[in-house]
Amino acid sequence: MKIYIGSDHGGFALKEELREHLKTEGHEILDLGTFDAEKKVDYPDLAREVAEKVRENAGSKGVLVCGTGIGVAIAANKLKGIRAANVHDATEARLSRQHNDANIVTVGQRTLGSETAKEVVDTFLKTAFEGGRHVSRIEKITAIENEE
Ligand code: RB5
Repeated sequence: MKIYIGSDHGGFALKEELREHLKTEGHEILDLGTFDAEKKVDYPDLAREVAEKVRENAGSKGVLVCGTGIGVAIAANKLKGIRAANVHDATEARLSRQHNDANIVTVGQRTLGSETAKEVVDTFLKTAFEGGRHVSRIEKITAIENEE
């Protein structure tokens, strides 16, 4: 699977760790930065870059990291067609895919240990959308986007 990954400076170390972990799992990883932990960058910029790529490339997924995972989720969710879930454990990761068809997972470097973050991302990427009763709910989210 094609995976776009990105972080701000506050998520840099975890982003690096997740990228290397995902490579060993055999995924195609495209790292959109940031590439320098010492240089402060604004999380909406990275969130936007990853979200645009996920939206353009059907079937791809995104992984975003900042201090908490909250800022990148808020920013990414401003793009039509993006459903970014800020996730803290494997159960949330599984349900964000099965029920919400989330296409980006966000995690926080300050709030999750790296082993939990790896488990979150692995679960997110291996879990399929359940469809069925959840389809009309996703369609309602799309309808809200289209009202704007
Ligand atoms: C950066 O200082 C920090 O605000 C950012 O990484 C993130 O936690 C925002 O949600």
